[in-house]
This record gives sequence, C-alpha cells and structure tokens, in this order.
Amino acid sequence: MTPADPTPPTAPSSAPARPWALLAELTHACPLHCGYCSNPLELTRRSRELTGEQWTDVMRQAGEFGVVHTHLSGGEPLLRRDLAEIVTAAEAAGIYTQLVTSGVGLDRDRLSTLAAAGLRSVQLSVQHADPRASDRIAGRRSFAEKERAAGLVRAAGLPLGLNVVLHRENLDAIDALIELGLTWGVDRIELANTQFYGWGLLNRAALLPTRDQLARARDAVERWRERLTPDGPDLVWVVPDYFDGVAKPCMGGWGAVSLTVTPDGTVLPCPAAASLPDLDPPNIRDHPLAWIWDHSEAFTRYRGTDWMADPCRTCSRRDEDFGGCRCQAYALTGDATRTDPACRLSPDHGLIRSLADDSTKGRGVIRRRVPVRGG
Ligand code: SF4
Ligand code: FES
Repeated sequence: MTPADPTPPTAPSSAPARPWALLAELTHACPLHCGYCSNPLELTRRSRELTGEQWTDVMRQAGEFGVVHTHLSGGEPLLRRDLAEIVTAAEAAGIYTQLVTSGVGLDRDRLSTLAAAGLRSVQLSVQHADPRASDRIAGRRSFAEKERAAGLVRAAGLPLGLNVVLHRENLDAIDALIELGLTWGVDRIELANTQFYGWGLLNRAALLPTRDQLARARDAVERWRERLTPDGPDLVWVVPDYFDGVAKPCMGGWGAVSLTVTPDGTVLPCPAAASLPDLDPPNIRDHPLAWIWDHSEAFTRYRGTDWMADPCRTCSRRDEDFGGCRCQAYALTGDATRTDPACRLSPDHGLIRSLADDSTKGRGVIRRRVPVRGG
C-alpha cells in the first residue's frame, strides 16, 4: 500500500469523532445464493481482492485510528485461505473480531486455527428452522453444515450468535427459529427484517412480507421476550422500516461510528454506498484510512446535519435517526439528499406505503447471485 495524498495526515481541530467499528468484506464469493443478499449486483472478482498483506495493513491502520470491533464478513469469509492471518492482524491491532459466516466450510481444524489466531466470536446465518426450507432459501444444501458449525463453535467455547434475515418465506416460523437457537445453545438471536439493498432490492417484490405476517411475528417475539429467562439468549428484532413509518438511524449516522472496506479495498461509509452516483469512493490502496475518514468527499458529504433539507432540517429527531438511510432515499427517489421515504414525515412516504400495501400479492421470482469469477 502506498498512501499518497496532498492533505497533511494530522486531522483538523474540528475533526469528526473517530470510528469504532469496521465491516471488513473480505470477499464477495459465497457458496450460498440467498435472494435477500445485500452485496452489490456487480460482485468483485477474486483477482481484484485485497491481499492478506493489504488486509493486515487495514487492520493496523484501523486499530491505530481507534477501531475496536470488526465483523469479518463477505460473501463467505471462510473462502479466504488467509483468514487466520487477517484475524491475527486484527488481534495485534487490539480489534475484537467476529466472524460472520454461513458455517459452510467450517471444520474443527479451521476453527481451532482461527481461535488460536484470536477470533473472539461467531455469527452464524440460518435461513429457516426447517432444513429443507433453509436449503431452498439458501439455494443449496447447507443446513446440516450450519448445525455442525454451531456445535463446533459451542465446543470451542466461543460466543455464538444466530442471524436470520426475515422475509415472506420465513416470517411465519419465528417460534421454530427461536427454538432452534435455544437447541443450538446460542447466546444471541438476531431476527433481522430484510433491508432492501443489492440483490435484496432486486428481489423486493418477492421478499416483502404482508402486514399480517409482520404483526404475528412481532407478537411471537414479544411472547418469547416474556418467557426467556435473564440467562437465556438476547433476542434482537431489527425493525422492518418499510412498514413502521420510522426511519432507521442507518449506520449510526453517515461517517459517524463505522466504516466498510469492500473486497477490492474501496472504503465506504456503509456497505451500500457504492450505489450512490458521483460518490467517487476512495480506496485504501491510494489513501490512508485517517485521511479517508477525515477528509474524503465520500465520508463528509452526508456527515452531521448541515446537508439536510426539510423536513429533516427542522425535525426534533434529526440527531437520533440522522434523516434515515441515504442509500434507501436514493434507491426510492433518485435523490440521496431527500428524507428517507421510510419516515412518515417524508413527502415521499407514499412510495413505501404503496409497496408495503401491495405486498399481499407477493410477486416475482427470486433472482439468485451468480458465482463470483476468479479472473
Ligand atoms: Fe428523522 Fe427526518 Fe423523519 Fe425527522 S423528518 S423523523 S429527522 S427522517
Ligand atoms: Fe447506505 Fe443506509 S445503507 S446509508
């Protein structure tokens, strides 16, 4: 890496708060083909991925810059043969590592190598509690490997989280999914309603649930919250913002607490930001992380509240939800500076309401990710 840019490396006195979280998208390659995937439609080829040495330098810079937590994600990060090297670099930089995985390809030796390198926790995805439905949604046989992976992680004594992306094909299985988490002995169950980016946006018509499905699922989660004892798993419900009339505080604010490094080294304020036109995102091969965070146009454009127009500009919630999601505003209105249409105060809220009202029809066939090419 040869950082070169004209701005002095020292941050100005008005420098923004530093990030504490890094999403490291190590590869877009993946053995699964989930229709809700938030990876971009144009997946990065393997030959364009950062090398292990370059990821080592990313971790060093991130640690020096104050990052304390990283999700090692993808695609499927286990497809990186040098994953342990990257974990070692994060550990040396003082960064807590969580592996975000489908579980496919995890065996006892691989896990013990990763744990020895300093891996701190694992988040395992599952698509449904019923093995055949899970395999169908994932686009290949994988449930048995997930079950085996959960057992290995428990046996290794690492904290284990279960992540389920929710949509019309699995929202009616909340009870069974929570029971699965209890059976697998997980510490946390994240029930994450689909966020519509990348392939998920492409497949939105087929994925959107009905309002009745959501209401039943919400009731089920509430019942489980009352039943679970304090030493049971944490139950996290990620809100379906298309249906709630409330904008989510996406990424905790633009360029506020978190950054994403994509497989080819592009550095983004959120995983979907490459979809915004004219953002011209910087690359870690060309600039130091500190310059990117403090000075790049991509990180400063929607930072804070000065960029906001009404109704956000004068709204009492603007410091809590930061006007919602820039990528969603762009995807739905063609203008990333507008209030997120998920907010019921947005003049564009009708766009989302009509999509949600229309969802009873459940239209469309899921279009699957294509395999990532090597060259
Ligand atoms: Fe949030 Fe803007 Fe809606 Fe106010 S108008 S609640 S700041 S998205
Ligand atoms: Fe980009 Fe929300 S996903 S700002």
